[in-house]
Amino acid sequence: MEMNRNVSNAGPKARMGQNQSSALTAGEEKVDPNYILHTLAPLPYDYSALEPTIDSHMLKLHHDKHHAAYVEKLNTALQKQPALYARTAQWLLCNLNQVPQAIREAVHHNAGGHVNHSFFWQMMSRNGGGSPTGALAEALQQDFGGFEPFKAAFEAAGEALFGSGWVWLVREQESAGRLKIMTTAGHDNPMMQGFYPLLVNDVWEHAYYLKYENRRADYLQAWWSIVYWDGVAKRFEHPQTV
Ligand SMILES: [Fe+2]
Repeated sequence: MEMNRNVSNAGPKARMGQNQSSALTAGEEKVDPNYILHTLAPLPYDYSALEPTIDSHMLKLHHDKHHAAYVEKLNTALQKQPALYARTAQWLLCNLNQVPQAIREAVHHNAGGHVNHSFFWQMMSRNGGGSPTGALAEALQQDFGGFEPFKAAFEAAGEALFGSGWVWLVREQESAGRLKIMTTAGHDNPMMQGFYPLLVNDVWEHAYYLKYENRRADYLQAWWSIVYWDGVAKRFEHPQTV
C-alpha cells in the first residue's frame, strides 16, 4: 500500500499535499521550494473497487468533488501567503500557529480535509476485510481484549461522534505506546495532539449518506469488509516507511 500515488500532471511546480516521504508523521520535513501547488492524487483503485460497501457513485463524488474541493480551497488560501507554498498540508495542519490568522481557518479546514482524505483512501482495498495478524493483532488483544472488542469500540466511537468528523485508531507515540481509539471533529487529525494514526474512517455524512442514508452505524459495521489490514499492520510495524 502506498500512502501517495502522486501522478501529477501539473509539472514540476505541483506536489502532493501529503508528506513527500509518504509517511503520515508530524515531524519536520524537507521541502522543495519549487513545489508550490497541492494536487489531488488519483485513488489507488478504480471507482468500483470497494463495491458494494462503497459504491462507485459515492466514491467518485467523495474523491473527485469533496476531496478535490479541499485541495482547491487550500491552494486558493495559500495564494495570499506564498511563503507557505513550500509547506506540505501535513505541516500546515500541525503548525497552524505559524499560519497567518487571515488564512488560518481556511488552511485548518482544507489542509485537514486533504491530509485526512489522502490517508483514508489508503485504508481500503478491493481485497480488504478479514482481520489483522501478527504484532498488530497482538496489540489489539492487549489493549482492547481482541479484534472483536476493538471493532465494537471503534464503531461505538464513530457512532457517538456528534456532527462531522473522523474515527481513528492511533498509537500514543510513533513507534511505541498503547493503542487508542479517538475521534476528531471537522478535519482535525490526531497528529495535532501528538498521536500517530494507524487507521481512520470518515464519518462525515458525505462518506455514507447516499447509500446508508442516516444509518451511520450500518456504514461503520459494513466498512470492515474493505479495510486493508496489511497496510495498517505495516504502519504499525514500520512507522514512517509506509
Ligand atoms: Fe470525506
